[in-house]
Amino acid sequence: MPKQPLDWQRKNEHIFLAEKYYQPTNPLFDEIQLIPSSLPNLTFEQVKSAIFWGSKVASSPLYINAMTGGSPQTILINQKIASLAAQLQIPMAVGSMSNYLKYPNNPEVQRSYAIVRETNQQGIIWANVSAHTNWQNAKKCVDLIAADALQVHLNSTQEIVMAEGNHDFIWLNNIQQLLEHIQVPIIIKEVGFGMSAQMANQLQQLGVQIVDISGRGGTNFAQIENTRNHQADYSFLQNFGLTTLESLLETKPLQKQMTILASGGIRSPLDVVKCLVLGAHAVGIAAPVLHILEHQSLESTTQYFAKWLQQIKEIMVLLNCSKITELKQVDYRLSVNLNNFIQQKSR
Ligand code: FNR
Repeated sequence: MPKQPLDWQRKNEHIFLAEKYYQPTNPLFDEIQLIPSSLPNLTFEQVKSAIFWGSKVASSPLYINAMTGGSPQTILINQKIASLAAQLQIPMAVGSMSNYLKYPNNPEVQRSYAIVRETNQQGIIWANVSAHTNWQNAKKCVDLIAADALQVHLNSTQEIVMAEGNHDFIWLNNIQQLLEHIQVPIIIKEVGFGMSAQMANQLQQLGVQIVDISGRGGTNFAQIENTRNHQADYSFLQNFGLTTLESLLETKPLQKQMTILASGGIRSPLDVVKCLVLGAHAVGIAAPVLHILEHQSLESTTQYFAKWLQQIKEIMVLLNCSKITELKQVDYRLSVNLNNFIQQKSR
């Protein structure tokens, strides 16, 4: 087989390495304990978990986060993810569309993204670009897949560890341009290193209304890029960044001003609910979807995640909540570590 361009190979290597390092559980979520209700006083049928995204409705506050596209090998994966999202009626994001912008006339690269809208015509689909993509190019990405929103990823740590990384992080002006010119909602997202209150606040001041704090604890791009980097060792950055729970606690005071989405290391329906209790509007999963698709058929993957949607509602019964918004009233306790983290914040 002829050698593929480096930026196609990278997409394939990300999938391979995310699976190689995949952990099916995330002990960091044990750092919060929800206080259950042993007298729920409601039935499962009364629990409503659907949420609105603009004028479209999702069946659950779960979404499939950005992963892939941009190489011939990713066409089938994105087709399966799109079919899964359509069956479950939940939003999905495509992975970074930088390869579409770099190889606009390559039919396979284009198809790796376009297949998603073809497969899931009515669904909620989000485009994904890097923070230095100009608005004209970002618009091309949105148009290709008739995206309902545009995710803009902040991945400075990943770029630093990546041997071929781009080290120009002057992004704020461009984000402002994107906000001015792109017609669909913009979601500013991390890629697994979390967000501080200070950062979310800065974005909010700029006019950003939705952030995905995507914290540490799941897919680790410091680890993935360090494995790919044969020129330097960056293993010291493997625990860099804020965890998903730390990021949620950090940004909690901003929830009235902006929509906070949570992702990063969500590995069970209980992890999803814990993020909702901390005020996340919705919760994203990336690697778990790849992992189950890798080991099971599309049909059983769909059944697997349909069960998650049911289990999210079952946990809501145990917490005596019939609506997602009621979850914010649920009482919880934090570990000594997390409590200490919050205490230091108010110094
Ligand atoms: C990602 N992620 C990602 N994010 C993004 O904004 N653009 C991208 O192109 C990619 N690519 C990508 C590839 C693969 C294989 C994975 C697993 C993930 C990051 C993803 O959206 C999410 O922020 C993190 O993966 C954390 O979630 P999980 O994987 O721990 O559930």
